[in-house]
Amino acid sequence: MAQINPSILSADFARLADEAEAVRGADWLHVDVMDNHFVPNLTLGVPVVESLARATDTPLDCHLMIEQPDRWAPQYVEAGAGSVTFHVEAAAAPVRLAREIRAKGARAAMALRPATPIEPYEDLLPELDMVLIMTVEPGFGGQAFLDIMLPKIRRTRQLFDKHGLDLWLQVDGGVAASTIELCAEAGADVFVAGSAVYGAEDPAEAVRALRARAEEASAGAWWACKH
Ligand code: DX5
Ligand code: ZN
Repeated sequence: MAQINPSILSADFARLADEAEAVRGADWLHVDVMDNHFVPNLTLGVPVVESLARATDTPLDCHLMIEQPDRWAPQYVEAGAGSVTFHVEAAAAPVRLAREIRAKGARAAMALRPATPIEPYEDLLPELDMVLIMTVEPGFGGQAFLDIMLPKIRRTRQLFDKHGLDLWLQVDGGVAASTIELCAEAGADVFVAGSAVYGAEDPAEAVRALRARAEEASAGAWWACKH
């Protein structure tokens, strides 16, 4: 099943509860946390996540683009996130961190910047619920999709299969009607979309249309037959 996670980075930050409502039917709300150190942009933190979790029934998928995720990630679980993603480039002890996120009751995910390969982390996969392959350099919405990431998506799905693991594979950055099929064919099953959803006339309809495209593309894909 393809999941569509609208990124509130492209929403109106003064009306977050309404913007969550505007994408009713989405699988998760993707919340981009940026600290102006790990990436050159600053967004929101724990108090906003806490309020948003109270304001919507849609579960929150927090993508932490921050330094020292070991120190901060557990607080996002306490704030109400259902899934917390840390960047492995910034984590001091990713195994300990993933275990702590899970122990607190959320799904644990590891994100890779475009230049970070998956292979060194193969042995960590059983500790995780999801891997996020960035398809832009993290920091901003509305950037062009990097199709040079498609082989990494494919290799990551192959590693899941090799180990018989039922992880989710998320892609984030430049995912739109024109690129979502490529991602689904390569092996992704969770799709973050910011501008493609909130830039649309009807965001809820954009979610449905993206999901339909992804489902169709993954139905006949090399990796989906086994799932
Ligand atoms: C970028 C963020 C993304 C961003 C995606 O660093 O992690 O989640 O919101 O936006 P679009 O879909 O517009 O590329
Ligand atoms: Zn993101």
